Amino acid sequence: MLISPQLSGNIARNCHPPGCKAYLQQQADYIQQQAPINGAKKVLILGASSGFGLASRLSLALSGGADTIGVSFERGPNEKGLGSAGWYNNIFCKELAEQQGLIAKNFIGDAFDPGMRSQVIDYIKQEFAGKVDLVIYSLATGKRKTESGQWQSVLKTTDKPLHGFSINLETEQLEPQTVELASADEVEATTKVMGGDEWRNWIDALQQAEVLAPACKTIAYSYVGPERTAAIYRDGTIGRAKQHLHVTAQELNKQLQSQVGGNAYACVCKALVTKASVYIPVMSPYIALLYQVMKEQQKHEECIEQAYRLFSQHLYPSDGPVRLDELDQLRIDDLELSPQVQQEIDSRYSTITTDNFKSTTDFTGYKTAFMRLNGFAVDGVDYQEPCDIEALSQLQP
Ligand code: NAI
Ligand code: NA
Repeated sequence: MLISPQLSGNIARNCHPPGCKAYLQQQADYIQQQAPINGAKKVLILGASSGFGLASRLSLALSGGADTIGVSFERGPNEKGLGSAGWYNNIFCKELAEQQGLIAKNFIGDAFDPGMRSQVIDYIKQEFAGKVDLVIYSLATGKRKTESGQWQSVLKTTDKPLHGFSINLETEQLEPQTVELASADEVEATTKVMGGDEWRNWIDALQQAEVLAPACKTIAYSYVGPERTAAIYRDGTIGRAKQHLHVTAQELNKQLQSQVGGNAYACVCKALVTKASVYIPVMSPYIALLYQVMKEQQKHEECIEQAYRLFSQHLYPSDGPVRLDELDQLRIDDLELSPQVQQEIDSRYSTITTDNFKSTTDFTGYKTAFMRLNGFAVDGVDYQEPCDIEALSQLQP
C-alpha cells in the first residue's frame, strides 16, 4: 500500500512508518557523530515517543550509553489505520538502542494513571537494576484524567482577547484567529494538565519506592519565549501552567537535595515544530519566521540538536558543574532569545501578510518539519515504494 499524508487543519491523520524510521535514523546518525555524553545511565522519560522526549532518549542512549524506559500515549494499528507516528518511533528507537546493546523499554498508556507508575516502578525494581539516575518530564497533552473526572486544558489568554494569525497546514493559508480570554476555571484546569502536579506525583512515588539513585536528577521541559509571543504563551493559560511547573521545579529541587542529594530543574527550550506546538494559536507565524532567521544565522536547531546540547553542555558538561541561570533553570532557548535573532524578527514581523507569508517566513521549512514528524517529506525515502502493512502491524513496542 502507498501511504500519502492526510491532514485535517494542523492534525496529522496518518503516518508513514518507513519514513518515521528513516527520520529517526537521521537523528541517530547526528547523535552518533557527536562526542559522547558522560551523564545518566538509567533514564526514565515520560513523553518519550516524540518531540523533546524522543530526542532526549536518542541522545542519552546513542551518545550517552543509557538504558531508557519510555512512557507514552500512542496508538497501534487497528481497523481505522496503521497507528500513530509515536507508536513507530517507540519501536524503531528500541531497535536502534538494542543494536547498541542497550535496554529501551516502552510503556504505552496514560502517564497520569497511578497504575502506570506502579508498573514502571515494578519494572525498575525487577529489570532495571533497581534505580534511575535521571527522570525527564516531557508530556504534552490537552487532558488529564483523574479518579473523579477529567481536567481539560485550553490555550487562551489571561488578560484580554487576542487577534492574530495562524498557519493552517492543511490549506496552507495564514488565517485570522481570535484567542479568547480564559475563565479562572480554565486557567486552573490548564495548570492541572500542563503544570507540575504529575511531575511531583511521579517523583514522590519513585522516591517512596526507593528507586531514585543517589544524586538523581529530574528535568521538565518548558518554554518562556520573547515579548512578541507573551500574550499567548508566557502570559497565557499555558504560561500559567509553566509557572506552576517552574515553582514545582524549585520545590522538587529542595526535596531531592535533602532526600537523595539530587536536583530538579525546569529546562527552557526553543520554539520548535512538534505535534503539540502547531496547536498553539497565533504562535505559528512567529515560529516560521524564527526558523527563517535562525537558519540564516546558522543557529537553527531541531529537537535533536537541542537535546544533545542540553545534555552535553548544560546538564552534564565535561568541564564543570551544571549550567543554570539565576533562577536555577537550564536554558537552551539562549539562541532563540539572542538579540541578533529577536531584533531581526522584530524588523521583519510586521511585513508578514496573508498573501506573502510563504516567502516572508520559512513556511516551507515549517511545513516540512511537521510532515517529517509523521514520516513524510523525509530525505531519501521512496514514497512510491509500497509499505508492507502486514509486516508493520506485527511490530511491537
Ligand atoms: P510532543 O507532542 O512531541 O510529545 C508529547 C509526548 O507526551 C508524546 O510522547 C506523547 O505520547 C506523550 N503523552 C501525551 N499525553 C500522555 C499521557 N496521558 N500519558 C503518557 N504520555 C503522554 O510534544 P513536545 O513539543 O515534545 O512537548 C514536550 C514538552 O516540551 C512539553 O512540556 C512542552 O511544553 C515542552 N516544550 C515544547 C516546545 C515546542 O516548541 N515544541 C518548546 C519548549 C518546551
Ligand atoms: Na516529548
